[in-house]
Amino acid sequence: MTHPVRGRTLAVLLLSLVIVALVAIGAFLPVGRWWPHPTEPPQSTSLRDAAGGRPLVGSAVAGDAESSALTDSAYRQVLATEFDLLTPENQMKWAAIHPERDRYDFAGADEVARFARENGQHLRGHALVWYGALPPWAKELGGRPCSEVRPVLRDHIRTVVGRYRGVVAEWDVANEVVDEQGRLRTDIDPVLRACGEPILVDAFRWAHEADPEAILYINDFDIERPGPKSDALEALIRRLKAKGAPVNGVGFQAHLRTDDPDLAAFPAQLRRFADLGLHVAVTEADVTVNMRSGAPAGGEAEKQANMFGALMRACRGEKACRSFTFWGFADTHSWTGSPTWGRGAGTPLDSKLRNKPAIDALTRTLTQNRPPR
Ligand code: G3I
Repeated sequence: MTHPVRGRTLAVLLLSLVIVALVAIGAFLPVGRWWPHPTEPPQSTSLRDAAGGRPLVGSAVAGDAESSALTDSAYRQVLATEFDLLTPENQMKWAAIHPERDRYDFAGADEVARFARENGQHLRGHALVWYGALPPWAKELGGRPCSEVRPVLRDHIRTVVGRYRGVVAEWDVANEVVDEQGRLRTDIDPVLRACGEPILVDAFRWAHEADPEAILYINDFDIERPGPKSDALEALIRRLKAKGAPVNGVGFQAHLRTDDPDLAAFPAQLRRFADLGLHVAVTEADVTVNMRSGAPAGGEAEKQANMFGALMRACRGEKACRSFTFWGFADTHSWTGSPTWGRGAGTPLDSKLRNKPAIDALTRTLTQNRPPR
């Protein structure tokens, strides 16, 4: 028979051990790591620290010419402490930075650049040649002769890249210039419509002249898997390089959905472009979930986590993969924030800046996979 006092001592000892173990486990749980209380010290490694620069971990900074997420102190706190690299989501697009033909407005872009400098972060510039976010005067260039359009683009690139020389480390020089069938977007891009493919050689040259240290990218979506679009992009890059265009990198936007096919082919896609002697990067990652009932459907958060994990695993495993940027880190400040056509909430934090399962999957991916030498 067990001695009653010894039995009680044993029970107390066991209980203490359980309490100590629970406290120890709690200290390593990711909950609150991104967190809402700026005064609380981080409880565990951030994605940036887990990655150790391979890749650089980045986020888009929400805002435009008239509004800025940087007025939100909780947002600033996360942005400052969790990321190596910032991309102005809209502040360097033509509509914001070059609103009238003879007027530039650097206020929004400068604000992001200042924030990055104060927090020791790198900057990606977005975007120099793109059909989206054009002010009305620039949209009209599509109907004009190349002799008129070319100097306008040259002035834009010299002015904008020149202003951020040594400040913006890398630029999306050409954004979304190829369509799903692999055709150059001469139909909707006014610059391409006026001047065709040769203007891209000029654009890369002008950007290089304005900042010889900047890494110059072609950036696009739906190239994470093989197909006509990535074939065309590869062929285009080969032609541009053959003509002397200083193309240095390919950005994979990675705007994904939980019901997309898996990412098994993504590592080979990264390698395929790295084999051209280029950097590769994930530049605009988000993964929207099914929100048809107004909230994420069952199992969606886990699917989202798996997809973010697969994206990060591919980038972490590719030595040419320089950076991994989320197109916003929280649903409050994301273009996927309010559900559209039943989908949304594509970021790794919710609108209260609480971790979704994605953070755990991303952290595990980084801690379990070393970058190649
Ligand atoms: O500038 C107006 C402002 O005056 C007005 O008060 C406000 C009211 O809604 O709208 C503002 O413009 C919006 C702009 O974002 C700035 O907030 C546009 O309506 C809106 O269409 C625009 O959306 C951006 C979109 O690009 C078009 O530029 C998104 O925020 C941005 O996330 C998205 O980002 C693109 C990348 O640049 C390229 N790849 C795809 C990616 C997602 O579409």
